[in-house]
Amino acid sequence: MAQIANFSVDPRLASILGESYSSSERALRELVDNAWDAEARVVQITLPAILTETPIIIADDGSGMKEQELRQEYLNIASPRYTRKGEKTPNLLRTVKGRRGIGKFAGLILAEQMEVDTKACGTRTRLVISKSALLNAEKDIEQVPLPLEAKACKTKEHGTTITLKTLNQNLNFPKAEKLKEILAYDYGRETDFEIFINGERVLRHDIQGATFTREYTLPNGTKATATYTISEKPVPNRPDLLLAANVESHHLLVEFKRPSIAVGRDAEAQAKKYADTLTGELGIDLDILILGGEVDSKLHHEYTGKRTRFLAYRSVIANARTQLDWLLNQLKQRP
Ligand SMILES: Nc1ncnc2c1ncn2[C@@H]1O[C@H](COP(=O)(O)OP(=O)(O)O)[C@@H](O)[C@H]1O
Ligand SMILES: [Mg+2]
Repeated sequence: MAQIANFSVDPRLASILGESYSSSERALRELVDNAWDAEARVVQITLPAILTETPIIIADDGSGMKEQELRQEYLNIASPRYTRKGEKTPNLLRTVKGRRGIGKFAGLILAEQMEVDTKACGTRTRLVISKSALLNAEKDIEQVPLPLEAKACKTKEHGTTITLKTLNQNLNFPKAEKLKEILAYDYGRETDFEIFINGERVLRHDIQGATFTREYTLPNGTKATATYTISEKPVPNRPDLLLAANVESHHLLVEFKRPSIAVGRDAEAQAKKYADTLTGELGIDLDILILGGEVDSKLHHEYTGKRTRFLAYRSVIANARTQLDWLLNQLKQRP
């Protein structure tokens, strides 16, 4: 049945709506945090392809909200979950993320229109919030009518789907890779909280804890071997430099950057400083290898210093896997 709902007023609203996130991906994280708090086990995020008008959709299978909860809790500005319901979620005992009661506005910062479609206890409630209607309200914001529709659904159905339409042109177009990186950092190791972006699972354990060995052929033709383990957790004083020498006493300085970092000229400048110190103090001649999550696409190889190489962990790993597969195949073929 079509009805009307209203926001409960709070003078902080204007400043909240004017609040900006450093990127659209960080704003989207707020909505994933809400799914976490709602004890969802699966969140499906659909991001539009660039230059299309398709909406962003965040669908979770969490507790959902009853119509009354939607009106009283969702539409209550700055009433954070943890002050209402405590530090831990009721069943999965997750530590609650909702601290400020304004996460939902991340959706409105990202888009002109936010639709909330939520199912709980046999009721499916839909609410449409238009940012311009809120911002242009001549009356108080609590007077702005928000179309709300409630109808029956199966009692066992639960979850919330947020649809964001007409994206804010002032924020960067959300990129799947960047969102994946942000969410993997927070949630990539959770076993009971699976996030998918355009159908692809967000994971963090991909490379953590794994040990890799690789032989590198340097631009001058010499070979060096590096063995390294990607740490399970960020460690204080993590070893991020490795000095390796091969049988011919050629030295290679390997600098490990965080997998979240793209390596480029800045990393090179830093590594060169280390190399200068080592060369000065030990009198050894060094080649430099810099490893990161990806290699800065702005890096032009024709300008790359001959003694410095840049590689992404993923390509090193993919290469190591291919070499291993090849080796195993060769061994199998031996009579
Ligand atoms: N995906 C969701 N599923 C169920 N409830 C939600 C969801 N998103 C928001 N809510 C409800 O709306 C409230 C307000 O959300 P939000 O503005 O992000 O504030 P906070 O998370 O700080 O409490 C939450 O406390 C929660 O009760
Ligand atoms: Mg929140």
